[in-house]
Amino acid sequence: MSILAEQFQQLSALLHRTSGDWQLAPFACTSLPWPELESALMALDEARIDTLDEDDSAALAFFAPWRPETLAAHGIQLPELKRAADYSTPRWSSGIPGRKWMQIKDFAANIGAEYPVLEWCAGKGHLGRLLAQQGTQPVTSLEWNADLCRQGEQLAGQLTLDHHFECADALSADAARLFRPAQQALALHACGELHLRFLRHSAAAGTRRLALSPCCYHLIDGEHYRPLSAAGRQQDLQLDRQSLRLPLQQQVTGGERVRRLRHIELTWRLAFDELQQQLTGNPGYLPLPAFPKRLLSGDFADFARWACEQKSLPVPNSIDSEHLLQRAERRRLLVKRIELVRHRYRYLLELWLLLDRALYLEEQGYTVTLGTFTARLNTPRRYLLQASKT
Ligand SMILES: C[S@@+](CC[C@H](N)C(=O)[O-])C[C@H]1O[C@@H](n2cnc3c(N)ncnc32)[C@H](O)[C@@H]1O
Repeated sequence: MSILAEQFQQLSALLHRTSGDWQLAPFACTSLPWPELESALMALDEARIDTLDEDDSAALAFFAPWRPETLAAHGIQLPELKRAADYSTPRWSSGIPGRKWMQIKDFAANIGAEYPVLEWCAGKGHLGRLLAQQGTQPVTSLEWNADLCRQGEQLAGQLTLDHHFECADALSADAARLFRPAQQALALHACGELHLRFLRHSAAAGTRRLALSPCCYHLIDGEHYRPLSAAGRQQDLQLDRQSLRLPLQQQVTGGERVRRLRHIELTWRLAFDELQQQLTGNPGYLPLPAFPKRLLSGDFADFARWACEQKSLPVPNSIDSEHLLQRAERRRLLVKRIELVRHRYRYLLELWLLLDRALYLEEQGYTVTLGTFTARLNTPRRYLLQASKT
C-alpha cells in the first residue's frame, strides 16, 4: 500500500467516526448536538469564538480533551514543493494582482519542459504564457470565454510565442480530443467538475505528466460526490454539496467592514427563517441563495420582503423586525458555536478529497506526489497534485 493510500485509510476512518461533528447543517440545528462539549462551548463569548476560529491550532488544542484524534490527524501535513526563485514581473503581467502572480510563478516552478503543454480552463492563459516564454514547448490553452481567449491570443501574438487558444467548453465530450500521451496537462484552480473531467481525460489518454491545483469541490454534476478512486468508493463519506463546501469556508480576515457584513447577513438569514416558519409552519431551515451585499444596507423588513419573493411566499402586511431579529440573535450564536467545531475538519476533508484524486491516478498507473506549491498567504487553495507515467 502506498503512503498516500495509508494516509487515506487513516483519514477515512477518522472522518467516519467523527461525521457527527462535521456532517451536519448548523443553520438547521436548534440546540448544540454535543452534550459533552456543551459547558465548554457555552462558556465562550462571541469575541473568544471569533479569535479561536481564526487560529486553527488554538481551536484544535481547545477541543483536544474531547477530540484528541482530530488534533492528531492534523499531523498529516503535505510537503512543500518547489517555489519560484524570484517573482520579477515581465511587462505583460502588469494587470495581474501580486498574489495571483506569485501563485502562477510558483506553479510554473514545478513544471518541466519535456512535453507540449495543455492548459485547462486557462482564463487569459497567464500560466501558459509564462511557460511558453520560459520553455521550448508549444502551449495550448483551453478556455470557453471568447473574450479571454482573444486577449490571450493577442498577447501571445505580440510576444511571438508558440501559444494558442482553444475556445471551447471543457465539459463537452469533444474536449477529450485535446489530451495526448506525450503531453504535460495543467490545471490551475479548475473548479469541481472541470478538474474531475481533466483527471478522467488525462488518464484515458495516458497523458504522461499532470499537474492540478483543485478548487471549488462542490461545483459538481449532481448533488452527491462520487469518489474517483476504488479506495474512495469503499470508504465513501456520502458527501453532499454542503459538506463539499466545508474546505472552502476559510475564515475571511477582511477587516471590520467584512466582519460586520457577515454578522448582519447571518442574523438576517436566520431572522427570515423565523419569519418563514411563522408563515408556513415549516420547522425546517429554508436557505436563501447567495445575494448582493447591497441588500444588507437597507432595513430588515425590506430584506424580508425580497426574501419572501425569492421563495414565492406571500409578503406579510407587517413584519415584526424587532422580535424576529431577537430570536435570530440567539440562533446566530448557536450557529457560530457549531461552526467552531465543524471548521476543525476543513483541512481533513480537503485532504480526503485530494487523496481520493491522488489514489485514482495511482490506480491508473501514475506515480503521484501531493504537496503545497505556494505560500498560504497567496491563496488557501495551494495544493498541487502531480502525476507522471513513463
Ligand atoms: C478560477 S478560473 C482559473 C483561471 C486560470 N487557470 C487561473 O488560475 O488564473 C477558471 C476558468 O475556467 C473557465 N471555465 C469555466 N467553465 C468552463 C468550461 N465549461 N469550459 C472552459 N472553461 C471554463 C472560466 O471562464 C475561468 O477562466
